[in-house]
Amino acid sequence: MDGPLLTLAAAHNAAARVKCIDCHIGADRKDYLVIKALAAWDTGRWVVGAYTDPGILRYPLGDRTCLKCHPDGGENPRVEKAFHNASYHRDPRNGCSECHRSHLKAPAETRFLLQALAKPLCDQCHQALLGIPSK
Ligand code: HEC
Ligand code: HEC
Ligand code: HEC
Ligand code: HEC
Repeated sequence: MDGPLLTLAAAHNAAARVKCIDCHIGADRKDYLVIKALAAWDTGRWVVGAYTDPGILRYPLGDRTCLKCHPDGGENPRVEKAFHNASYHRDPRNGCSECHRSHLKAPAETRFLLQALAKPLCDQCHQALLGIPSK
């Protein structure tokens, strides 16, 4: 979290003091209970020396976790043509984390979006809805 910002998760901590647990606790009561149970299990495994890093999330955080702090789905009233200000770039839409990956290294200039991940989703929707061919 120090030095140049490399990931969206790090940017959250730097810009707004959003900590790991603020995302990783999920959004509702069920998330809280499931995640605490997983954490207790992991702690037990760690104590007996049998813990291995799962490498992926066993319990997806889902859009609801992003929406608890970004209730308007990423709109920006300060910037006239911000991407999510357009109604058609809010709903229907892909999952937040399909475009916005939290832990993959990406440039701050693209707000930590990776073209290789995001562009196929732009193309898919534009092609399906509008018949615009992909480039
Ligand atoms: C902005 C919300 C957010 C913050 C802050 C955040 N994470 Fe994550 N994390 C996610 C999401 C969402 C995933 C699922 C994979 C993805 O979308 O990149 C994830 C995945 C993970 C994984 C599974 C491995 C992987 O890369 O998929 C681990 C481990 C993890 N996070 C640890 C951390 C730690 C440690 C911190 C604090 C230093 C942290 N996270 C901060 C949202 C966040
Ligand atoms: C605990 C609150 C919280 C959660 C949970 C959260 N965010 Fe954020 N996010 C913020 C704050 C605060 C900022 C910085 C202020 C702003 O730009 O609104 C921010 C900034 C961002 C930015 C702009 C980053 C930049 O540097 O340009 C993106 C993109 C983003 N969040 C996406 C997500 C996604 C996707 C998730 C779910 C995986 C998520 N956020 C979860 C609070 C949160
Ligand atoms: C199809 C890909 C895609 C999906 C899905 C997506 N976003 Fe975005 N998001 C973008 C793009 C593109 C931008 C604009 C980046 C820029 O300004 O350079 C953006 C910008 C943002 C920002 C920064 C807004 C600002 O100007 O400060 C936030 C916050 C954000 N998204 C949150 C979300 C949330 C929450 C979700 C899920 C409800 C989501 N996004 C789903 C592509 C996506
Ligand atoms: C959920 C479907 C969907 C997704 C995903 C999507 N778009 Fe769009 N996009 C639309 C629709 C619908 C329009 C409106 C076309 C019209 O006005 O005729 C549009 C219009 C546009 C326009 C022209 C108007 C404007 O707002 O400037 C641009 C540029 C654009 N999209 C870029 C993108 C990019 C870049 C991505 C991926 C990060 C993306 N779109 C993802 C549905 C989508």
